[in-house]
Amino acid sequence: MLIDTYGRVATDLRVSLTDRCNLRCTYCMPEEGLQWLTKTEVLTDDEIVRLIDIAVTRLGITEVRFTGGEPLIRPGLVAIVERCAALEPRPKLSLTTNGIGLKRTAAALKAAGLDRVNVSLDTLRPDVFKTLTRRDRHADVLDGLHAARAEGLAPVKVNSVLMPGLNDDEAPDLLAWAVEHDYELRFIEQMPLDAQHGWKRDGMITAGDILRSLRTRFTLDPEGEDRRGSAPAERWIVDGGPHRVGVIASVTRPFCRACDRTRLTADGQVRTCLFAREESDLRGALRDGATDEELAKRWKLAMWGKKAGSGLDDPAFLQPDRPMSAIGG
Ligand code: GTP
Ligand code: 5AD
Ligand code: SF4
Repeated sequence: MLIDTYGRVATDLRVSLTDRCNLRCTYCMPEEGLQWLTKTEVLTDDEIVRLIDIAVTRLGITEVRFTGGEPLIRPGLVAIVERCAALEPRPKLSLTTNGIGLKRTAAALKAAGLDRVNVSLDTLRPDVFKTLTRRDRHADVLDGLHAARAEGLAPVKVNSVLMPGLNDDEAPDLLAWAVEHDYELRFIEQMPLDAQHGWKRDGMITAGDILRSLRTRFTLDPEGEDRRGSAPAERWIVDGGPHRVGVIASVTRPFCRACDRTRLTADGQVRTCLFAREESDLRGALRDGATDEELAKRWKLAMWGKKAGSGLDDPAFLQPDRPMSAIGG
């Protein structure tokens, strides 16, 4: 079991498969990209599957989410999913993606055993998409979303980050669109995890702003604290149901007390938290010939040291050295 000194038990593993991405979202990375990990730094498919196997069979992990960068650009993704679906006990398997290329791979991913996908889409306007992501790929994302739904990778969730002056007027339009197409929409507060360190608390759109904007067109009733569990999204029932909308308010309403996550970066480091300043190296031990038992022990030790929370409210808060794209969202 992965338990920390606050009594939280991690059952949900997020695995970053690559730090690279085919978009350049302004809230994430600069136009020129970042200094990417080299091929030898990144875990091989076999190494990833071995660590997930250890997490599932020895450490009580029941849900595995593949993230990036952009996980669809990892060539071995389908094979990795297939091998994870064969583990006993079989973990739930999900993917967080920007949707580009999903049209091509959704059927293979479903057949390999993927259960569901979350797709990032911040705007319904192709021109705004191009400004926000610096790439003209809006139609590809919509195609990917539709393919995911058609393949039954459900519920298909859509993640939107609202940026002041760019798409902050779009919340009601996004919700109307999501209800129409049966996607579960969640708005995410912008977090200080951008590579450029440009985040400012007074510049961000808060959960309060988002709810106010949505209520100009919809009635929203809280789903209730008991339904939230350890999920980062708080959900509201839209116009009496059955549709829901979520808000992930990591900044203004942190959910650290219920956190059930552990993370593995593409280069084999355990992170206890998105905002952790320390990592624990599993790759080095693995390549030095550590046994499964030794690797499990290292992972447990890392999680035991998990901090109470993100530290965002501390005036001395320091952004982690790695940006979101290298941590895995
Ligand atoms: P499900 O609700 O299980 O579908 O997944 P999720 O919402 O955890 O996953 P997703 O990858 O779609 O993440 C949505 C947003 O939540 C992203 O911006 C993540 O960075 C953020 N997020 C995920 N896990 C954590 C976490 O442990 N802490 C914080 N603060 N944010 C998180
Ligand atoms: N703050 C909040 N969300 C972010 N994402 C990427 N960077 C940030 C940030 N700085 C979102 C992506 C994706 C999800 C995994 O995280 O848009 O939907
Ligand atoms: Fe967990 Fe850290 Fe996220 Fe809080 S900020 S919910 S402790 S991962």
